[in-house]
Amino acid sequence: MKLIDDCTPCLLHLLLLAGLCVPSSSYPASRSPLCGMLRSMIHQVERLTKLSGKFHNLTGEELEHLEVAGNRLAGLPDMEHTAAHIDSLKVNESLSQLFMYTQSFRLHVNWLKTAKENVSLSSHPAKETNTHLLHLSTFLNASLHQIGEEVPPSQSPSLPEVSTAFDVLQFSVEISKRLRMFCFWSKRVLLIIQGQSPCPRH
Ligand SMILES: *[C@@H]1O[C@H](CO)[C@@H](O)[C@H](O)[C@H]1NC(C)=O
Ligand SMILES: *[C@@H]1O[C@H](CO)[C@@H](O)[C@H](O)[C@H]1NC(C)=O
Ligand SMILES: *[C@@H]1O[C@H](CO)[C@@H](O)[C@H](O)[C@H]1NC(C)=O
Ligand SMILES: *[C@@H]1O[C@H](CO)[C@@H](O)[C@H](O)[C@H]1NC(C)=O
Repeated sequence: MKLIDDCTPCLLHLLLLAGLCVPSSSYPASRSPLCGMLRSMIHQVERLTKLSGKFHNLTGEELEHLEVAGNRLAGLPDMEHTAAHIDSLKVNESLSQLFMYTQSFRLHVNWLKTAKENVSLSSHPAKETNTHLLHLSTFLNASLHQIGEEVPPSQSPSLPEVSTAFDVLQFSVEISKRLRMFCFWSKRVLLIIQGQSPCPRH
């Protein structure tokens, strides 16, 4: 919860600014197919939020020992930075950004799945997470097509070598934390877009 608490002010800021910046006239006032996709994407993010807590099975004390390693996966999207820079993002830009982040998490989680299998740790949560990331990216891709935006190309992050189960656990903790932040950020962004679009409230 610590990361989320730290980030509350910037997210409130983001919420306020996005409300001011996103033009509400971008979409026709009738039932937009985007509304259905937004609902589906929010659902996927909610599933991912739950899964992000299941990446490792460690106690608080064990976690403290692991956390000293810090951030080793340089290619993971960093929500702490982007939350402050997102003020001026438009709907099309938020969706592009979300798509790129989702693709990045897919690559990292897939890599973690293999790393876990290599050291005989359960890869089930990683597999399930990847399924929902794939659904999310499919909806994002479709939404970008829907609003006539180009789908950004995927990057290939460089991923470190892993040899020990301890390494794998450290990476699980790191990805789990970042995935939580990503989910929190994504849900806010998707709700903002939903609020700016002519979508029924339920
Ligand atoms: C998680 O840890 C608890 C308590 O240590 C243990 O009972 C449980 O079997 C573990 N689950 C997995 C999936 O490793
Ligand atoms: C998003 O749309 C605005 C106009 O609505 C346009 O100026 C901007 O270039 C678009 N951004 C991207 C990343 O396509
Ligand atoms: C898993 O093991 C294979 C074979 O040893 C190796 O080539 C690969 O890099 C490993 N993958 C990860 C993510 O550790
Ligand atoms: C996005 O969707 C289009 C069709 O709507 C498909 O051709 C393309 O492969 C998809 N791209 C990704 C990255 O999923």
